[in-house]
Amino acid sequence: MTIPSTGPMLFLRAASPDGMRVAATCLRPQDAAPPRFATDRDLKAEALVTRAGATLWRVMMDLPLGRATYTCDGTEYTVATDTTGDMTIAFASCNGQERGDLDRPPEDRNSMWAHLAKRLDDETIPLLLNGGDQIYADEVTQAHSLSEGWPKNVPHNLTGSEWSDLRDALAKAFFERYATQWAQAGFADVVARVPSLCVWDDHDICDGWGSLRRRAQTSDVAKVLYSAAREAYLLFQFGCTRTERPEICLQGSEALSWRVDLPGVTIVAPDLRATRDKRKIMSDDAWAAFRPALQDTQNRTFVISSVPALGPRLSLVERAMKLTPRMEDYEDDLRDQWQSYAHRAEWQRFLSALMKLHDEGDRRVTVLSGEIHLAMRATMRTDTGPLHQLVASGISHPAPREALATCLSLLAKLGEAPLKGHPIRLHGLPDKTRPYTAERNYLLLRRTGENWDARWQLEDSGETNALPI
Ligand SMILES: [Fe+2]
Repeated sequence: MTIPSTGPMLFLRAASPDGMRVAATCLRPQDAAPPRFATDRDLKAEALVTRAGATLWRVMMDLPLGRATYTCDGTEYTVATDTTGDMTIAFASCNGQERGDLDRPPEDRNSMWAHLAKRLDDETIPLLLNGGDQIYADEVTQAHSLSEGWPKNVPHNLTGSEWSDLRDALAKAFFERYATQWAQAGFADVVARVPSLCVWDDHDICDGWGSLRRRAQTSDVAKVLYSAAREAYLLFQFGCTRTERPEICLQGSEALSWRVDLPGVTIVAPDLRATRDKRKIMSDDAWAAFRPALQDTQNRTFVISSVPALGPRLSLVERAMKLTPRMEDYEDDLRDQWQSYAHRAEWQRFLSALMKLHDEGDRRVTVLSGEIHLAMRATMRTDTGPLHQLVASGISHPAPREALATCLSLLAKLGEAPLKGHPIRLHGLPDKTRPYTAERNYLLLRRTGENWDARWQLEDSGETNALPI
């Protein structure tokens, strides 16, 4: 395939009362001239990598406070860089589908992105949080005969030349998939004008990564797949090379957890994929690196948990599925959740850490998640008021059948309290009676003075009323 000229895409590195520092990337054919970026001066782009006939370029830009502009190859873009006062942060997740993602009519696939892009004309949005499954890479493993049987039927050991052969094929396939998706109308418009912060979930690697059978997860094919996915993640979701560590990332672990402080608001994203296996969600190293990120925060903290941290009692369903071998695949999906019985102690540890911060002085914590392809909200009771969980998913993944939303809403009635005395309750979105809404969606977090509220943009029902959080 020929990779089109695509970009720019902006990645937030820092925001302050002086403005923003962002990385800007774009793709050009391998033999084309480097892109010409300029702010109030010309900027020299550096090549991050050349692959599949295209080069990924990057510049670092310091944008002043207010409505800043930059140009890329003569096209001017305006960026809202003021994060000091009233503002809106957008949150989206699940940008694709498992099979045939790009075979859908583009206007349909990208309609929520087009909606968000149009919104930028009237509403200043200085930040886009990408909460997981930014691509659905599931078909990447079909790029080579050694991985096409993934995850059930792959060789456990690879020879040296098989390893490098597979590595090249998968790296190219990831590169092409990201490039094709980036060029989608609506998405490309948004990410050129709104700096992104991204955290991955399973589909950025493959369906169920970390929760799959041990035999698949420990194979050489898995090692090559993870390494190719991680390189592509760094390139296309941070604007970094495979050997760089993004400056927003927490040190001391293989995990790419990060924290960013804006005026009055801290955003923290634990990496729930890099060190996951069937027994744990984050390794001891990843936990040790993550813990300090919940200290000395601004008054408002948004924690992005790519899989929802508050939800119904799925462990019951998981136990029931263990009784029927045919349900194995679904069992992997449930193992992937915080609510899995295998992760109960770790889930309690995570919720305790969030609640401790939430209960400190004037601090408030809100959890943001995607993953389930439904819109949902929940709360956990704490001594200082409800801790909110907001779920927005997916922005381009099709909504599941109504029946699933009904089933989950019924399951939610059972209640759950992993921390004694702090029950979790699920609630309808504003104006909705049951907890789950089966429509494509994205979320808007708005600060007015000291107060925050949340609104969901739903594909059919439109924008919800504001929920104070
Ligand atoms: Fe998803």
